[in-house]
Amino acid sequence: MQGLLPAIETRRARRALSADSISRGDVETLLAAAHLAPSCNNSQPWRFVVADDPNVLAKVKEALSGGNYWAKQAPIILAVTSRRDLDCALSDARDYFLFGCGMAVGNLMAQATSMGLIAHPIAGYKPELVKAALEIPETYVVITLIIVGRPGDVSLLSDKHRERELGPRERRPLDQVVAWNRFSFEDPPAA
Ligand SMILES: Cc1cc2nc3c(=O)[nH]c(=O)nc-3n(C[C@H](O)[C@H](O)[C@H](O)COP(=O)(O)O)c2cc1C
Repeated sequence: MQGLLPAIETRRARRALSADSISRGDVETLLAAAHLAPSCNNSQPWRFVVADDPNVLAKVKEALSGGNYWAKQAPIILAVTSRRDLDCALSDARDYFLFGCGMAVGNLMAQATSMGLIAHPIAGYKPELVKAALEIPETYVVITLIIVGRPGDVSLLSDKHRERELGPRERRPLDQVVAWNRFSFEDPPAA
C-alpha cells in the first residue's frame, strides 16, 4: 500500500474513550491542522468552539442524543460551526461552507489519528442546546460536534457499539460509488 492509505485506514469512528485529559497544546495542534484546509476563495468558513471547561462540557453533553452516551466520557468536545454567507454560495446549490468545514474536519481527524487520539464527528445532538451551552448565535449552523479523547475501555460500550468497535470496516464496493466516463449509478430517484 502506498501514500497515506495506511494512515487513513487506521482512522475509525471509535467510541471507546477514556476520560483522560488532553493538553491544550495537543488540541491546538489539531486545530492548526484543520485551519490549513483549502476553501473556496480562501474563505476559511470554519469556526471552532472548544469545550474543555468541565461546567461547559457538562452542558454540551446534555445536548447529546441517547445513542451518543459514549461521548460523555470525552475530555474535549469541539463544535464546528459556520454560516452559509461565510463561504462561496454559487449556482446549482453549491453552498461551500459545509464542504469547507468538512475538509477542515478531515484534516483534524487525520492529525488526531497520527497522534494516537480519537476525533469522532457526530450529528446526533440537539443544536439549540449546543448553541445555548456555547453561546453560539442563532444565525450559525452547528455542523458537527467532534468528540475528542484517548482510546478507552470497550466494555463501557453497548453490545452494538462494541461489535462495531471490534469489527471490520464497512464500505460499499468501490465500483458502486465510482463511474468512469459516464454517470452510471442506480441510486433511487431523488426525493
Ligand atoms: C456527519 C457525520 C455524523 C455522524 N454522526 C454520528 C453520531 O451521531 N453518532 C455516532 O456514533 N457516529 C456518528 N458518525 C460516525 C459514522 O457512523 C461513521 O463514520 C461511519 O459509520 C463509518 O465508520 P468509520 O468512520 O469507522 O469508517 C458520524 C459521522 C459523520 C461523518
